[in-house]
Amino acid sequence: MADLNELSEKLNGIKAEIKEELNRLDSSKSVFEYRKLIFDSKTGKVGSLMREMGKIPAEMKAEYGKRVNEVKTWAQNVFEEMDEKFRREEMKLRYASEKIDVTMPSMKPKHGYLHPNTLVKNQTVDIFGSMGFEIYEGTEIETDYYNFTALNTPDDHPARDMQDTFYLSDKFLLRTQTSAGQIHVMEAKQPPIKIISPGKVFRSDDDATHSPMFSQMEGLVVDKGITLCDLKGMLDEFVKKIFAEDVSTRLRPSYFPFTEPSVEVDVSCFQCHGKGCKLCKGTGWIEVLGAGVVNKKVLEGCGIDSDVYSGFAFGIGIERIAMLKYGINNIKLLFESDLRVLEQIAE
Ligand code: DAH
Repeated sequence: MADLNELSEKLNGIKAEIKEELNRLDSSKSVFEYRKLIFDSKTGKVGSLMREMGKIPAEMKAEYGKRVNEVKTWAQNVFEEMDEKFRREEMKLRYASEKIDVTMPSMKPKHGYLHPNTLVKNQTVDIFGSMGFEIYEGTEIETDYYNFTALNTPDDHPARDMQDTFYLSDKFLLRTQTSAGQIHVMEAKQPPIKIISPGKVFRSDDDATHSPMFSQMEGLVVDKGITLCDLKGMLDEFVKKIFAEDVSTRLRPSYFPFTEPSVEVDVSCFQCHGKGCKLCKGTGWIEVLGAGVVNKKVLEGCGIDSDVYSGFAFGIGIERIAMLKYGINNIKLLFESDLRVLEQIAE
């Protein structure tokens, strides 16, 4: 450095340059970067002057140091001021962008529900599963033999008229009842037998309480000494769990070709508790399923000795239970997948 005048000129130039550059800075980050640039000890305009201090002749050193330091302190202050200003602005923006209105109603995440049919089926499987029943899943296409003949329903038997059948050919049909599964199970295995068989069944039937496709759950127990009392006790357990603790069953005589005796099972009305209401049509009882003692002819046809073994069977309509349980008056609602309906039923 030739002389101090030259230094002053240089320092004034640097100051002017910094002032000029300050107008272009627009964030705390840009202040940081520029400050680094200016104070870099090798390449920085101010930093390098500080570094050169060592080479300055002794007589000039004090004045040199003073002047350079002045500019350095000035620049530091200016940078600090700007940094603070930008930081304040940036914080304001950040707070604004992250602002949360705690009085807003929260967003309810949408989640799926199990269909009422699935709920009832799962609950039914769980209840019988807890009583030791195994699951047998049959097929939706059956032969006439398994769906009717082996269930003691010969060709000309009037019981065939009870179930309008979708025939696929002379021999094959869409099963009209999960009862067909009973035969497969008894043919394959000697007692003790204790199974439930859930699945879809098909009938040419279509009104407010009937659908051409619906779901059933068959139950079959065959062992030594099985009686209608066992059936009643087990069904009482089932209805308490699926409807309510204070619900009980009553059996009414009925007719099914594959059971003898046959019964229609009613539950005490869980809505009016027996007083009589619209749901139970004033009777205090609601019909829920068919059941009976397995007809000896059916056992024998499957190779089971009916002098040694006896059994009971039952058939539950899953949609019927779902309609009763959730107060649905039209079976179509269970097949239309209308979310407005299904969301009301979600458990
Ligand atoms: N399969 C009968 C139906 O669909 C229901 C039924 C009644 C099943 C009595 C049974 C039973 O196992 O014992 O109408």
